[in-house]
Amino acid sequence: MTEEFHRIRRLPPYVFEHINPIKAAARAAGVDIIDLGMGNPDLPTPKHIVEKLQETVKDPRAHRYSSSQGIPGLRKAQASYYGRRFGVKLDPDTQVVATLGSKEGFANMASAITAPGDVVLVPNPTYPIHSFGFIMSGGVVRSMPAEPNEEFMRALDRSVRHSIPKPIALILNYPANPTAYTADLDFYKEVVDYCREHEIFILSDLAYSEIYFDGTPPPSILEIEGAMDIAVEFTSMSKTFSMPGWRMGFAVGNERLIKALKRVKSYLDYGAFTPIQVAAAAALNGPDDCVAEVRNIYQHRRDVLVESFGRAGWEVNSPPATMFAWTPIPDQFAHLGSLEFAKLLIKEADVAVAPGLGFGEYGDNYVRIALVENEQRIRQAARNVKRFMQKHGGMGDNIVKLKS
Ligand SMILES: Cc1ncc(COP(=O)(O)O)c(C=O)c1O
Repeated sequence: MTEEFHRIRRLPPYVFEHINPIKAAARAAGVDIIDLGMGNPDLPTPKHIVEKLQETVKDPRAHRYSSSQGIPGLRKAQASYYGRRFGVKLDPDTQVVATLGSKEGFANMASAITAPGDVVLVPNPTYPIHSFGFIMSGGVVRSMPAEPNEEFMRALDRSVRHSIPKPIALILNYPANPTAYTADLDFYKEVVDYCREHEIFILSDLAYSEIYFDGTPPPSILEIEGAMDIAVEFTSMSKTFSMPGWRMGFAVGNERLIKALKRVKSYLDYGAFTPIQVAAAAALNGPDDCVAEVRNIYQHRRDVLVESFGRAGWEVNSPPATMFAWTPIPDQFAHLGSLEFAKLLIKEADVAVAPGLGFGEYGDNYVRIALVENEQRIRQAARNVKRFMQKHGGMGDNIVKLKS
């Protein structure tokens, strides 16, 4: 009776559970922690979207149970976004489902398609639901490289040849959380061709479809001929329209997969509150300048982060997309690993970051820095980091003592 539940034994505490108590204690003691940890967008939802919600909420008919798969106007708006943005034609009735954030959609897709012991290929490091969605459903995860290059294709082939049973699905996420790797259409074509030949489904997470910098919009895997036979793609309103608390996302693509997700959802939920769905449709139908504005703000923050942390003595990789810099732990702290380093950084620099270990074992040499504070606060974080680096310059012994 006291033994831990089967499923819970397979779920380690979420990445921030190690960090949050330390952050909370520091804040309770009056310390101003600059929080670059969780990828929780801080920007306000654009005014016209909030107004649409306010207007709709006044209609009592909008207060009933809504539609689990998403109201028709919302599915239509998502289909027309795909047409406009990617040149991908979608049938809103059979190839689009609205989800309670893309995380919910991903998790329920995993439960819809996974039988106990099914093998799924998942990047490592990656956003946790990509692996734990399948683990919760009794699946077995085999790690794939996160970077979309030739080695990825070799690893894919190795995994397919040596997994018994053969993998049922491959997870892709570009632009990637936490690594910010991006993929182009040539890469998608190779993967789609391979997975079609070997009858493997592809679940593509495109949550950062609109958060890209330096002018190259990320493509959709559904642009590839034949992708619709095997692939679904998840998008999110959380980052594009700064609507993380609204819980609105989508899955689109292969009809069989979409139908399976709709079936599971029809047992679990009645859809998001109708006014949220109506406002989300308004957001997707434009105007689009608010999306460009959000992108611009993240790009400026990225530039400030890279420049100011670099001057402070911590070289930060400049991400081409997403709202994250995936950054090696500075040399003198490398032996600590990402969790102990992140704890030390909160305690001594008043700066919170996400330990790379939380995204998979292959992330432990890195931390993820989220662009969720304004430029002034990022500069303040850099000043704190500079003092911290100066204090620890070459003082490995000291750090070992702190660890113990
Ligand atoms: C790659 C990725 N997918 C999905 C999500 C979750 O998005 P949503 O808020 O739509 O559930 C996130 C959020 O950080 C993410 O980084």
